[in-house]
Amino acid sequence: MAPYHVMLVHFPIALWTTAALVIVLRTFSDGTLARAADRVLTPLLFFGALTGALAFAVGLLVWPFETAASSPLARNHLLLAGWSLAYWILLWIVRWRGGEQVWQGLWRWIMLGLGVLGVGLQTITGTLGGYLAGNPSMVSEIVRRLGWEVFTTFYLSNWVLATVVISAVVMAVLGMTGARARS
Ligand code: HEM
Repeated sequence: MAPYHVMLVHFPIALWTTAALVIVLRTFSDGTLARAADRVLTPLLFFGALTGALAFAVGLLVWPFETAASSPLARNHLLLAGWSLAYWILLWIVRWRGGEQVWQGLWRWIMLGLGVLGVGLQTITGTLGGYLAGNPSMVSEIVRRLGWEVFTTFYLSNWVLATVVISAVVMAVLGMTGARARS
């Protein structure tokens, strides 16, 4: 399945990168070009999520799961692939449900932040995949200087995990309360 995975990953990477460029353009411009580009953002994000999910599923079939699970590099690739996919799906839902409102006030900076984060995650995902396929790059050196050695298992300490889970629950409750108050 390796050739299929390598062929498929080009689609989400290209679509998400284009979407990120549209987000940057729209964040800083209300002009005609930026508005026109924004009109294709939802379809770009939708097809990015669709092809990303496909690439993810085929990625799981490249090696037997026991093999991937016993390599720190493959585990890190799997983890980062999951994060990238989750972030870009989130952005698609936010833009689709939020409509033009996502470019008002503070929202546009949140969109920019999510877009930049998504690009960072997909870059590291691709870099780790490159190692697995025998195509190393210098990106891992940048990550190493930031304090993460990609050849060792990435882990979060328990208190960070607990903070993440509590924050997610609080945000979901706030979202639902806000939606109820508006309707
Ligand atoms: C959004 C999801 C994913 C993206 C964007 C992605 C991206 C990539 C990239 C860019 C490569 C390197 C291609 C090359 O340099 O020729 C790669 C290789 C690889 N990926 Fe992924 N990947 C994803 C999900 C996964 C998952 C879930 C797994 C499961 C463990 C996986 C396993 C692999 C393996 C084993 C290789 C090496 C293939 C080979 O030997 O040619 N990938 N991936």
